[in-house]
Amino acid sequence: MAQRVRGVVAPGKGQPVRIETVVVPDPGPGEAVVRVQACGVCHTDLHYREGGINDEFPFLLGHEAAGTVESVGDGVTEVAPGDFVVLNWRAVCGQCRACLRGRPWYCFDTHNAQQKMTLEDGTELSPALGIGAFADKTLVAAGQCTKVDPAAKAEVAGLLGCGVMAGLGAALNTGGVGRGDSVAVIGCGGVGAAAVLGARLAGAATIIAVDLDERKLTTASALGATHVVDAADRDVVTTVRELTGGFGADVVIDAVGRPETYEQAFYARDLAGTVVLVGVPTPEMKLELPLLDVFGRGGSLKSSWYGDCLPSRDFPMLIDLYLQGRLDLDAFVSETIGLDDVEAAFDKMNHGDVLRSVVVL
Ligand SMILES: NC(=O)c1ccc[n+]([C@@H]2O[C@H](COP(=O)([O-])OP(=O)(O)OC[C@H]3O[C@@H](n4cnc5c(N)ncnc54)[C@H](O)[C@@H]3O)[C@@H](O)[C@H]2O)c1
Ligand SMILES: [Zn+2]
Ligand SMILES: [Zn+2]
Repeated sequence: MAQRVRGVVAPGKGQPVRIETVVVPDPGPGEAVVRVQACGVCHTDLHYREGGINDEFPFLLGHEAAGTVESVGDGVTEVAPGDFVVLNWRAVCGQCRACLRGRPWYCFDTHNAQQKMTLEDGTELSPALGIGAFADKTLVAAGQCTKVDPAAKAEVAGLLGCGVMAGLGAALNTGGVGRGDSVAVIGCGGVGAAAVLGARLAGAATIIAVDLDERKLTTASALGATHVVDAADRDVVTTVRELTGGFGADVVIDAVGRPETYEQAFYARDLAGTVVLVGVPTPEMKLELPLLDVFGRGGSLKSSWYGDCLPSRDFPMLIDLYLQGRLDLDAFVSETIGLDDVEAAFDKMNHGDVLRSVVVL
């Protein structure tokens, strides 16, 4: 029988979110209902509320979540009721051209639940990133549930579902950071701070954190940055070069996503180095670079969606490292809040007060 739960709904462009009763159907074939235990507030939730993603209001927000599988539909074998899972927005299809070539982390045909969650009057909800986890329970495709060690706290585990995974993966997967490398990270919010942590995990020797906000630089130091650069009063390219023997870093990660930060990343990188763009630009942004520099400086210019992660490979491994005390994911949980506090959490995010506010249910 369909269940009625509380959920955080964005009713229309720019309007404040509100708590609504959400009708969650029983799972159909290939689907699962998950009892949500924790869900982080990500910038993308705010983008949805502001109409920056698409116009398919009303949205059921929340997509950085962990919880327990409550029930599964026909044909589901990968998870069972009672499993502790992190929800992902990359349920790979196994059949698209990326999957067939053995690169499922680029899957071009990821899937979500077929059935819709609705408001009580039957209005269909669009779940953020196909998840919709600012709710007591949510309906997803079973492939969106990744089993991890239940010893991990839900508010920490859930963070792997989006921003923290994007940052860790930008360093580990897309950037291919290795032992002894020099790495610079521009923008050290939740995503950039996770990239610092990823660079440390990979054994980078020099990790330079760049931000305009001193509080973010303090956190980045605690997470393993060997140097910090306050972009408000230092020239980023010159400083990164000075800190790397005059050459530039092997890998530079742009976790802001603006033309000026991308240009800094491009020139703060050593010859044959790698630039990783993980910050998300807006449609009107344009980049102008001398083509001769693109050619002459060599190396690679890459973009990182979700840290090029493969949830089934990366989530359990990262949770194990966390439980062994080798990956400080606790540092990302700035505060735990209730479902009623999401609007206030957007405000704190805009003021740079938090790495992550996490709704705990
Ligand atoms: N690629 C992906 O899969 C993915 C996933 C999640 C988030 N993101 C994107 O990553 C970006 C960062 O997300 P976040 O949650 O860390 O956001 P955030 O707002 O917490 O952090 C952004 C940081 O950048 C700093 N900053 C802004 N302008 C700067 C500049 N000119 N120079 C140096 N630092 C500057 C800010 O002070 C802040 O600390 C966003 O664009 C977000 O949409 C991408
Ligand atoms: Zn695929
Ligand atoms: Zn997100």
